[in-house]
Amino acid sequence: MLPDAMKNIFPAAGKRANSPFPLVNLISNLIFFVFGLTFGIIICFHYKSFSFNLQVTNGQFSIFTTQSSAPQQPPPRVALSSPAPPTTTNHVELQKPPRLMHGMSDEELLWRASMAPKIEEFPFERVPKIAFMFLTRGEVVMAPLWEKFFKGNQGLYSIYVHSDPSFNGSEKEGSVFRGRRIASKEVQWGNVNMVEAERRLLANALLDISNQYFVLLSESCIPLYNFSTIYSYLMNSTHTFVESYDLPGPVGRGRYNHRMGPTIALGQWRKGSQWFQMDRNLALEVIADKTYFPVFQKYCNGPCYADEHYLPTFVTMKFGGRNANRTLTWVDWARGGPHPSKFIRTDVNPGFLEKMRSGSSCEYNGNKTNVCFLFARKFTYNALDRLLRFAPSVMHFNK
Ligand SMILES: *[C@@H]1O[C@H](CO)[C@@H](O)[C@H](O)[C@H]1NC(C)=O
Ligand SMILES: *[C@@H]1O[C@H](CO)[C@@H](O)[C@H](O)[C@H]1NC(C)=O
Ligand SMILES: *[C@@H]1O[C@H](CO)[C@@H](O)[C@H](O)[C@H]1NC(C)=O
Ligand SMILES: *[C@@H]1O[C@H](CO)[C@@H](O)[C@H](O)[C@H]1NC(C)=O
Ligand SMILES: *[C@@H]1O[C@H](CO)[C@@H](O)[C@H](O)[C@H]1NC(C)=O
Repeated sequence: MLPDAMKNIFPAAGKRANSPFPLVNLISNLIFFVFGLTFGIIICFHYKSFSFNLQVTNGQFSIFTTQSSAPQQPPPRVALSSPAPPTTTNHVELQKPPRLMHGMSDEELLWRASMAPKIEEFPFERVPKIAFMFLTRGEVVMAPLWEKFFKGNQGLYSIYVHSDPSFNGSEKEGSVFRGRRIASKEVQWGNVNMVEAERRLLANALLDISNQYFVLLSESCIPLYNFSTIYSYLMNSTHTFVESYDLPGPVGRGRYNHRMGPTIALGQWRKGSQWFQMDRNLALEVIADKTYFPVFQKYCNGPCYADEHYLPTFVTMKFGGRNANRTLTWVDWARGGPHPSKFIRTDVNPGFLEKMRSGSSCEYNGNKTNVCFLFARKFTYNALDRLLRFAPSVMHFNK
């Protein structure tokens, strides 16, 4: 840190030697003046190129902000197209995400996370981040691929992992996943506690005011595009991505329980993939829902599969107008059965990756596109080495 003498000089230099000096000690003031003047001249010289990103960790004093020396330039709320790591700003305290191990109960956490600022403009340059939320049993199997994906994009993403409480493995030192596990509870396939885990992930991610888009992933998910493409796609989207459709028959409307009425009518019952992508507004509504979710907790058990019905039904009932009704996570149901296809080593080749990336047609912000999926599942651990071999070039990771 700076020596004490410097602390005295810096504020004077900040005012470019125009500040009134207290007439206490002439000699020391003269030294300060000369020092301040020299410093001021240096600043004037480097006016344009100087960037004062001095991090004052104790928050005691701030010197110059980048804004004060730059020409008036309103900070963009959304940094798009070529996201650059954020520049350091002051006001660190306001933006600091809370500790992950906060010790709050679920009830306390959801309540705390449901708070939204009433003043819409941020008093600091907020660089919006994507929250990547991994719902896993154990470790994130595809972690080495995700490491490559995240590389060079620090400050534009946050990671949260909800794994089975019995999982006691630890992430490698230096891994982006290290220390990103949240306090978790047990999850069973098809049980409503799966949705509780999703809400727990959302609530933890909402505590970080910078998180703007929220992506739910499994341990077997992979990205299909590089970070900058995914970042712009999500941040520019005018829609949320919660898959939702009305399906007659036993695995659709057949899972509706009449005791859910009148809060939820049969005609409002929807189905869709659990793997969603949603913005901050919708995420807040989901964790704050005290009307529909309790009905699911009470009546959606047995062969009901809340994870395939709660979000599609809730979002379509309340926020359907802004929803794309599709998910950005590619999956293959072609092999039939209750589980989608799992892809192994020999399935992975550039052609297959291209098919997932651009082999479909859909709408994005009202325009037709063939970029319909940004993520894909389910990939097994033994597919990892071939993914690491092909993905970086097919997906333009390392440019
Ligand atoms: C992790 O849990 C397993 C059993 O689930 C146990 O055998 C192992 O010793 C544990 N490892 C550590 C490091 O605690
Ligand atoms: C997002 O919008 C910005 C400006 O509005 C544009 O420069 C950028 O190309 C857009 N990205 C995508 C993926 O549409
Ligand atoms: C998604 O479904 C809702 C409700 O049916 C509808 O209002 C909305 O327009 C649909 N979204 C798109 C992009 O078609
Ligand atoms: C959609 O397409 C129209 C016409 O091709 C174009 O003017 C518009 O910018 C496109 N919108 C987006 C969001 O890409
Ligand atoms: C990301 O991929 C796109 C093509 O999909 C490419 O044009 C772009 O340069 C890549 N971005 C980076 C940062 O490498």
